[in-house]
Amino acid sequence: MNNKIIIINGPNLNLLGEREQSQYGSMTYDNLKEMCIKKSNELNLDIKFAQSNIEGELVNIIQDSRQKFDGMIINAAAFTHTSIAIRDALDIFKKPIIELHISNIYKREEFRQKSLISDIVTGGIFGLGANGYILAIISMQKLLK
Ligand code: DQA
Repeated sequence: MNNKIIIINGPNLNLLGEREQSQYGSMTYDNLKEMCIKKSNELNLDIKFAQSNIEGELVNIIQDSRQKFDGMIINAAAFTHTSIAIRDALDIFKKPIIELHISNIYKREEFRQKSLISDIVTGGIFGLGANGYILAIISMQKLLK
């Protein structure tokens, strides 16, 4: 049976392609989703791609993932820097988690340089643009092998 992974995207990532192209590039959210589904299919992973702008909804998605998915890739976006609730939910997941950021958060404003989740995830990818999602999917496949 294929391993199942979920890619969770936080606030404002639905507006990729429109928001701050200098940081996030020109790929739209729909194109990103398509690219991730294609790569996952190639690697025999079943994938769900999710996005919410609402903190509590993201907590619910993370909680629901416990029984449904073998691994998680998460770009918590701005909640990376603020949300203890998302951190606590991730800590309960107990399976591989990859933290992802499109931009290099350590090269940006000081408030972005602190991640509340880095110390509880399996590993992270940042600053590699939309390609980071592809690298995260490949890494997750290897982690789950
Ligand atoms: C982001 C970085 C965050 O600081 C920011 O709030 C985002 C996107 C990234 O992918 O680079 O919304 O997570």
